[in-house]
Amino acid sequence: MNKGQRAEICRLALHARERAYAPYSGFAVGAALLASSSEVFTGVNVENASYPVGICAERTAVFKAVSAGEREFPLSRLYLKGAAVPSGSCRQVLAE
Ligand code: THU
Repeated sequence: MNKGQRAEICRLALHARERAYAPYSGFAVGAALLASSSEVFTGVNVENASYPVGICAERTAVFKAVSAGEREFPLSRLYLKGAAVPSGSCRQVLAE
């Protein structure tokens, strides 16, 4: 991945972040995941009044990609804006 592609993925994560639904924490997160098909899948956190029902941005991106038929992320990159480290649940999903 060259510098320009990396910058573009970061831009997509930042742009996605604007669509986060985080009225409870006020912590908006955007993620962008590069799949093996070269398609980039974005995700945002979507909160709910019942906290565990909401979802993190990273898992949104992964679940969108898998739903679209992606299965492999050999050179996957995840760019986050608003969170320094993916949550344990997200790391569990990314590991698989
Ligand atoms: N959140 C993410 O979307 N990704 C992370 O890696 C950490 C946390 C979200 C979940 C919740 O909506 C908000 O940030 C505060 O924890």
